[in-house]
Amino acid sequence: VNFTVEDLDGNRQEIEAPDDMGFSLMEILKASEYPILATCGGMALCATCHIEVLEGSDELGQASDIELDQLENLPEYYPTSRLACQIRISEMLEGAVIKLRGEDV
Ligand code: FES
Repeated sequence: VNFTVEDLDGNRQEIEAPDDMGFSLMEILKASEYPILATCGGMALCATCHIEVLEGSDELGQASDIELDQLENLPEYYPTSRLACQIRISEMLEGAVIKLRGEDV
């Protein structure tokens, strides 16, 4: 599956990721060397994997209650904010545009 990532400086890059191996978006972003802390390791506890879905949010659906609990604790979040660790890589991501919103590290 192919999707686009916009980093904290606004640079965009297309990423290709396997959609049949159960990876999360957080894992793929880390593997692509984006500055995502993911201190909780994908447990939806730290919110350092915060991203905003710029395009394709309808396909990806709404944040779950567990995500919203974390997102609401952030100083700033957006209507299509998500936790990247809670998004499975699937064909739903095809063509999506993801913006990094985590802490600048
Ligand atoms: Fe901690 Fe996603 S990695 S909330």
